[in-house]
Amino acid sequence: EKGGHDYFMLKEIEEQPTAIADTLRGHLVDGRIVLDEQRLTDQDLRDVDKVFVVACGTAYHSGLLAKYAIEHWTRLPVEIEVASEFRYRDPVLDRSTLVVAISQSGETADTLEALRHAKEQKARVLAICNTNGAQIPRESDAVIYTHAGPEIGVAATKTFTAQVAANYLVGLALAQARGTKYPDEVVREFHELEAAPKAVETVLESLGEARALGQLLADSKAVLFLGRHVGYPVALEGALKLKELAYMHAEAFAAGELKHGPIALIEPGLPVIVVMPSPKGRAVLHSKLLSNIQEIKARGARTVVLAEAGDETVKPFADHLFELPPISTLLQPLVATVPLQVIAAEIARARGYDVDKPRNLAKSVTVE
Ligand code: M6R
Repeated sequence: EKGGHDYFMLKEIEEQPTAIADTLRGHLVDGRIVLDEQRLTDQDLRDVDKVFVVACGTAYHSGLLAKYAIEHWTRLPVEIEVASEFRYRDPVLDRSTLVVAISQSGETADTLEALRHAKEQKARVLAICNTNGAQIPRESDAVIYTHAGPEIGVAATKTFTAQVAANYLVGLALAQARGTKYPDEVVREFHELEAAPKAVETVLESLGEARALGQLLADSKAVLFLGRHVGYPVALEGALKLKELAYMHAEAFAAGELKHGPIALIEPGLPVIVVMPSPKGRAVLHSKLLSNIQEIKARGARTVVLAEAGDETVKPFADHLFELPPISTLLQPLVATVPLQVIAAEIARARGYDVDKPRNLAKSVTVE
């Protein structure tokens, strides 16, 4: 059943190109982005003046990425919050607010209550869900299903990358409705997204390398993760995988926060995993992160660097280097998350833990 793999999670990690491709399939019809089930009119989408994303755990990390993409493409303000905080606050919402509720299971109690909280204030709700007919899509005005297939491993992997693809579809649907992008630009972005599974396949070819890295890090007491811009949610997701699977202290920081405290944690030998942006993207992001790596290296950190293949600048400062295929900035999380999933699973395995069923966790959190 595990398809010859040591654990389900590994099989599910390998299914990510298909999960992304299946999630995108059928969403471009006659040059227009379409959602799955829609009880929202084009006018409703045009009237949106603010987006609020609510989710928990890994789904929340995918939502952080939604913020970068939607704000970039639509110029709409986007807020993102964990559902358990959102539901007990008085967020400012009205009928022009679009609330995007992201949930693999579609049954997460906090996300469902956040959605109800939003509806009470007349906000429109769009669900991103992996489970047909689950409660969250049932109570929403529109749905985009992630077609990742059933996920057995408690740790979310393929549903995360599928959620990222679905979030980007929401961004493109809004850009289309609001006219912040020309129709041909929307189509171009969609095709770029469609090409992402190929890049994920390239990363999967280096799975052995990521597993070896996991073995090397298995004895560590703690691991820190650093990222900037879209690399920051990737870092958060890498740290969450490590906590839940390897029961290891793992923390992610926005790289720019280093000097505001976290750098004090750096001591000789401490592994720090850095998600490096492409040198062909925004130069400032790349150079800032490069100097962050130098700073932590100078303090003795054991640096594990995820960088675009051919990026020579990082080599002098990387104790371990994992090369990523070139891809546009917004899509980099789809490739950069994969080695982090594998590293976490492999550390857990090396420590003798059940990768598919980590202690104290349930696949679907239907109680608070
Ligand atoms: O089913 P949901 O997407 O609503 O679940 C949300 C979280 O419980 C889930 O992502 C959890 O964080 C995973 N175990 C992370 O791997």
